[in-house]
Amino acid sequence: MYNVNTLEHHWMPFTANREFKENPRIVTAASGVRFTDHNGGTVLDGCSALFCTPLGHARPEIAEAVKQQLMQTDYVAPFGLGHPGAFELASKVARIAPEEINHIFFTNSGSESIDTALKMAMAYHRARGEGQRTRMVSRERAYHGVNIGGTSLSGMVRNRETFTNLMPNVVCMRHTWSKDELFVKGQPESGAELADDLLRMVETYGASTIAACFVEPVAGSTGCLVPPKGYLQRLRDICTEHGILLIFDEVITGFGRLGKAFASQAFGVTPDMMTLAKALTNGCQPMGAVAVSDKVYDTIINAAPENAVEFFHGYTYSGHPAACAAGIATMDIFENEGLFDKAAELSGMFQDAVHELKDIPIVKDIRSHGLLAGVDISKDGVKPGALGGEAQKRMFWNGLHIKFTGDAGILAPAFVMSETDIDEMVGKFRKTLEELV
Ligand SMILES: Cc1ncc(COP(=O)(O)O)c(C=O)c1O
Repeated sequence: MYNVNTLEHHWMPFTANREFKENPRIVTAASGVRFTDHNGGTVLDGCSALFCTPLGHARPEIAEAVKQQLMQTDYVAPFGLGHPGAFELASKVARIAPEEINHIFFTNSGSESIDTALKMAMAYHRARGEGQRTRMVSRERAYHGVNIGGTSLSGMVRNRETFTNLMPNVVCMRHTWSKDELFVKGQPESGAELADDLLRMVETYGASTIAACFVEPVAGSTGCLVPPKGYLQRLRDICTEHGILLIFDEVITGFGRLGKAFASQAFGVTPDMMTLAKALTNGCQPMGAVAVSDKVYDTIINAAPENAVEFFHGYTYSGHPAACAAGIATMDIFENEGLFDKAAELSGMFQDAVHELKDIPIVKDIRSHGLLAGVDISKDGVKPGALGGEAQKRMFWNGLHIKFTGDAGILAPAFVMSETDIDEMVGKFRKTLEELV
């Protein structure tokens, strides 16, 4: 389709450009749960690409909806004008969100959703006459995207250390991984008291200075760190008691990954806002969203003078018609094919299969929840990250794509995978890990 003569000009994101360009891994086609590489080989997609494609690749319903939308209305300026698709998609997302969450603000990515949620938290407190609440609480080993806001909230050293002048007033709670809870399926029994780190922030800085607490319900990019039983509820209780907004970053966990529409329903804990992206359009169009509770929305809207703009924020492509069309088609497929239930049904078999990798000597921990799992590998004398990097490359040529962050391999299969596909995925993962022992 394209005539690629040089790899030189494309500066690839989060990629070792020099190494890649010497030994490229190019995907030339994607269909169902498989890619085709530039040598004509087949690669099983074990990570829904980047947690984006739970419906599998090349869904004709989505492609057709986008095409029709572009022919009907290709673009509408979103400030002060509307188009039907944005309202329709917002209703569909609100319908599956927790009862208190009924307002959807569209962005173009997870990173923009985080920046938007940060501004909403500031606007909410200002509207209540508590504009001094500007401090944000995040967590070690968190990933909240790469904009200045998300980088400031990030708890990953490599993502931060080059960029020192970020947002001020961000403090980090401890992460929830514990060496005492290895190879656990689902939620660890111990560790709920780690949520009291938020209480320590309240005691150290004063609740009256804290705007919001951001957490991924399951930390995804750093290797599926599942919250201990009771942890999220404890965070909720502390936030409620001290007037702090609780924000769940559901960019990975949203749209069925844990067997319910959102992690908040899987864990029975309702945040004040949820940040979303990725599976919102099955990865077919860049789109994110912030899903907002009535409490936050009403407070911001009602504080503004009548007929005035209530929230001075928005993107040129907020609620782009083509993205909305992809989102609507995606929501329809989730519903028509009962895919959140399907994800829940498949998760037992998936987790059992992944945990069988425990016997490989370089496998040091496995964690899992729903259709998400993290596998830590390490080997004496090998520097951190090197083994994971090698595994990621080797795995591709062994016919499997999964994401590695450092030495944590992350599996996140499409909900449409069969049990045979899952067996093939884990088999190829095993083969690669055994080559590295
Ligand atoms: C939890 C979480 N938040 C935010 C983001 C950033 O999303 P994006 O890459 O679309 O900006 C990601 C991406 O992986 C994520 O996992």
